[in-house]
Amino acid sequence: MALLRPSTKAAMVSILSIFVFCFPSTVLSESFRQIFLPPTGFGPESLAFESPGGAFYTGVNDGRVLRYQPPTGSWTSFAITSPNRTIALCDGTTDPDKGPICGRPLGLAYSPSTKLLYIADAYYGLFVADSNGRLAKQIATSAEGQRFVACNALDIDPITGNIYFTDASAVYDLRNSSKALLANDSTGRLMKYDVRKNQVTVLLRNLSVAVGVAVSKDGGFVLVSEFVGNRIRRYWLTGRDAGTSDIFLSNLNIVRPNNIKRTSLGDFRIAAATVRQDSQTLVPIRVRVDEHGRISETVSLEAQYGSTPISEVQQSGLSLYVSSRGVNFVGVYTP
Ligand SMILES: *[C@@H]1O[C@H](CO)[C@@H](O)[C@H](O)[C@H]1NC(C)=O
Ligand SMILES: *[C@@H]1O[C@H](CO)[C@@H](O)[C@H](O)[C@H]1NC(C)=O
Ligand SMILES: *[C@@H]1O[C@H](CO)[C@@H](O)[C@H](O)[C@H]1NC(C)=O
Ligand SMILES: *[C@@H]1O[C@H](CO)[C@@H](O)[C@H](O)[C@H]1NC(C)=O
Repeated sequence: MALLRPSTKAAMVSILSIFVFCFPSTVLSESFRQIFLPPTGFGPESLAFESPGGAFYTGVNDGRVLRYQPPTGSWTSFAITSPNRTIALCDGTTDPDKGPICGRPLGLAYSPSTKLLYIADAYYGLFVADSNGRLAKQIATSAEGQRFVACNALDIDPITGNIYFTDASAVYDLRNSSKALLANDSTGRLMKYDVRKNQVTVLLRNLSVAVGVAVSKDGGFVLVSEFVGNRIRRYWLTGRDAGTSDIFLSNLNIVRPNNIKRTSLGDFRIAAATVRQDSQTLVPIRVRVDEHGRISETVSLEAQYGSTPISEVQQSGLSLYVSSRGVNFVGVYTP
């Protein structure tokens, strides 16, 4: 660069700026508001809506699944996953070492037709709660004889009602997720729970920390994000490629993909991060891709979240709802 004439240098800087600063963009016309959790709640990881823009559920640090009821804006404790959980020991705790006793609900999905809420708990496995909530019913703690170590994400097949969920790693539990990153872990699994046969089967193994799941609108494939692998894999459920997988999304500017949520149109919202070129720090982004993996939007959430990682972006009604294990609110972006 030092050898270039100033005018050439300026031209190059402006070309570089196009690459550096246009990715990702920010949407200036959007408004941002926060739905604060009750005082004892922290770290919403995923959201499940009963209806578009309606009541929703979220799992928090102390092991509870909370329910939010608009427009009154009231929160209630809806369900728990751990039979050993006591209010005195657990309510309001942010101590990760209490997770194995209090439970830690991460992935959530609600079925409007059956009115059931499915829950993936990091320490206790796969659960289902009916509209009474309270202690949810445990469905599975292992697959093919191998105990789950870090259940994380789930989704409901819109056609069959079957459940797809992940065990992020077979080695590192939630408390050790930074070690999984250092070790380049690839022991995660994607499972299917057949709701009629009441049976769990393993679809994919050797995943590099599997923390997001979404089924396509037509039930043709299921996506699974690999947080450490920086990519999203597609497993075909129907058609000539059924039973095989390929890479759906892999982009140098999109790292640490977390939860994936399908929109009503059939494309997907992904919570991820990108490396800021000027500081080499990770900042949260939201990405929208169509069902072929084509990126249609990448937006930085740095102005609202700084460098705090986000875990999910979900469209519900007109707004985008953002959850994060590092904050005490649900963020809402409205055009
Ligand atoms: C939970 O309680 C049961 C008995 O009530 C016990 O067997 C189990 O080890 C306990 N689990 C934890 C994680 O404390
Ligand atoms: C995970 O963390 C816990 C507590 O921090 C520790 O006791 C355990 O040995 C760790 N496991 C692994 C596999 O690193
Ligand atoms: C991490 O593991 C994957 C296989 O799961 C491998 O493709 C990749 O090269 C590894 N990365 C590093 C930095 O070792
Ligand atoms: C994939 O995982 C299985 C255990 O589930 C293991 O036996 C096998 O070696 C792994 N394959 C690779 C390529 O790492």
